[in-house]
Amino acid sequence: MNVDKKFLEEQKELINLVDDKINSISRVGHYRESYERIVEALTYVYYMGVSGNIAEFGTWTGRTSIILSHAFTTLNQKFKSYKLNSKRELYFFDSFKGLPEITSSEDLASEHVKAGTWKKGSMMMHDYQTFKELIDNFASPDTFKVIPGYFSDVVPSIAKEVKFGFIHCDVDLYSSTIDCLTPLFANKAVTEGCIILFDDWNCSRANNNVGQRKAFRDICDKFSVYFSDEGAYSYHGRSFIIHNYR
Ligand SMILES: C[S@@+](CC[C@H](N)C(=O)[O-])C[C@H]1O[C@@H](n2cnc3c(N)ncnc32)[C@H](O)[C@@H]1O
Repeated sequence: MNVDKKFLEEQKELINLVDDKINSISRVGHYRESYERIVEALTYVYYMGVSGNIAEFGTWTGRTSIILSHAFTTLNQKFKSYKLNSKRELYFFDSFKGLPEITSSEDLASEHVKAGTWKKGSMMMHDYQTFKELIDNFASPDTFKVIPGYFSDVVPSIAKEVKFGFIHCDVDLYSSTIDCLTPLFANKAVTEGCIILFDDWNCSRANNNVGQRKAFRDICDKFSVYFSDEGAYSYHGRSFIIHNYR
């Protein structure tokens, strides 16, 4: 046996580091780093005075919605008299029926669809009323709106004056990403400096031709979007800041 026992003993710290990292991913039920990234991105919006409301597309368990609601309430209080801050509302969008029918070729090519983990009705948990009651615990009812329905039905009818400076896009599919973002870009509802977080950027083995990667590329082409890549978070997400578009 050639391995030095003392050397091996000293590597305990490395093993602890691995355990800490893995536990930090699963401890709070989901992905700790993505929660942290949501809070960090929302703080950017408040500190830098990005105008517009806060939106989450895809609420399922309500975990990221809780994070967002609590951060929103805290930051509203903290930035109450900050000159660059503007009045904001928090919007939550979900079908409350899970994923829609999957028909687009970009989605049918997804590994998660092929494996059957994403199908119509996947990721259904709370109904509209229960979700609203859940969020009541973290944000004042007059500060948030819950918009039930498939994005293709509800997003095009958002009033034109409603703008967004923060978008958490946690919707899994190519088609759902297109359905929520296209009407916003078409209506000029995405403000200068708006930060968009794509939770599912690396899904389907990070294949560039399916899912959120393909959807964002198609949107950027369609609206000539000029953006900054704000980098990866956790093992699955990526965020971008939007500067301008046509
Ligand atoms: C991955 S889950 C969201 C996870 C959530 N952020 C959490 O913390 O649990 C995706 C959600 O997006 C919703 N969704 C996906 N596509 C949709 C669409 N086209 N219209 C409405 N809701 C959609 C699903 O109902 C599901 O709740």
